[in-house]
Amino acid sequence: MRQYPGSAIILGALIICASLLGCSEDEPDFPPDFVDIRDKSIFVAGGSGRAGRYIVERLDARGLNFTPMTRSKEAAIERLGPAFAEMNWVEGDVRNAEQMRTLLMGKDMVICVIGSRETEGPNGPEFVDYQGVANLVDAAVAADVEHFVLLTAIGVTDENHPLNKLLGNALIWRFKGENQLRESGLTYTIVRPAGLVDEPSGEQGVFLDQGDNWQDIFRGTITRGDLADVLIASLETNHTHNRTFEIVNRTDLEPGIWRETLPNLVSDQELASEAGDNSP
Ligand SMILES: NC(=O)c1ccc[n+]([C@@H]2O[C@H](COP(=O)([O-])OP(=O)(O)OC[C@H]3O[C@@H](n4cnc5c(N)ncnc54)[C@H](OP(=O)(O)O)[C@@H]3O)[C@@H](O)[C@H]2O)c1
Repeated sequence: MRQYPGSAIILGALIICASLLGCSEDEPDFPPDFVDIRDKSIFVAGGSGRAGRYIVERLDARGLNFTPMTRSKEAAIERLGPAFAEMNWVEGDVRNAEQMRTLLMGKDMVICVIGSRETEGPNGPEFVDYQGVANLVDAAVAADVEHFVLLTAIGVTDENHPLNKLLGNALIWRFKGENQLRESGLTYTIVRPAGLVDEPSGEQGVFLDQGDNWQDIFRGTITRGDLADVLIASLETNHTHNRTFEIVNRTDLEPGIWRETLPNLVSDQELASEAGDNSP
């Protein structure tokens, strides 16, 4: 057999160069802000809720490694349907700090979309939206989680918001929950949606705002599917790190263009120093 020592040397050099440069034939070129979540273990608190189902459906469709939590697997599957039965559900209650520590062990990322449906009582906003979030945040710190994405709501910074009177100070408790995350030292993203609806996703634009100008978008809505896309996309770029922003659907914006506006988000620290106070 004829030998081609020169070609072998050139080929070898190319392979070494490619591996040094991090190139390989099946790896596309990722932008510098990109965070690859394909090998991450993602914990979804509230995966059984009306918003959570869109998140777990999307993670499942992409073959990602995720663990959804519910207080009752049986009730969740009955509500969501048999397509959700094969998922890797764990049962847990955010009010149980010790249990959260156990469940978050070994997890890399958290998406939290839990929420109290009650206005008072032991599963009311104080114990779920504030203390429950605080328990999850503490557990995430203990587990050395890389990124924690939290869903809250527009208007949380306004104590006089009408929904506080109607819903047992739900927004006030949510804002306290946000602050637990901000002060935890974790890398975080806080997403505050307008009213959630179950209309088809990907058909309208999504407007990203900052500063909680909730009066401007109070009557606005966002589909739970678009919300899920924004929450998952928040894990996949460092442009969302340590940022809080509001989202609402807008028909005058092109669908999908919101992804290009993520780099414009300003960090909470910068927002606070611009405003001269410490509330984003
Ligand atoms: N509805 C709106 O227009 C609107 C607008 C802005 C923001 N939001 C916020 O969006 C969030 C999600 O909305 P959604 O429509 O998906 O709510 P949802 O359908 O009521 O889902 C709530 C989720 O929270 C979980 N949960 C409640 N208490 C829990 C506890 N003690 N321990 C563990 N998990 C608990 C539920 O799990 P299990 O019951 O399976 O245990 C469920 O997965 C809400 O928190 C709400 O504050 C809503």
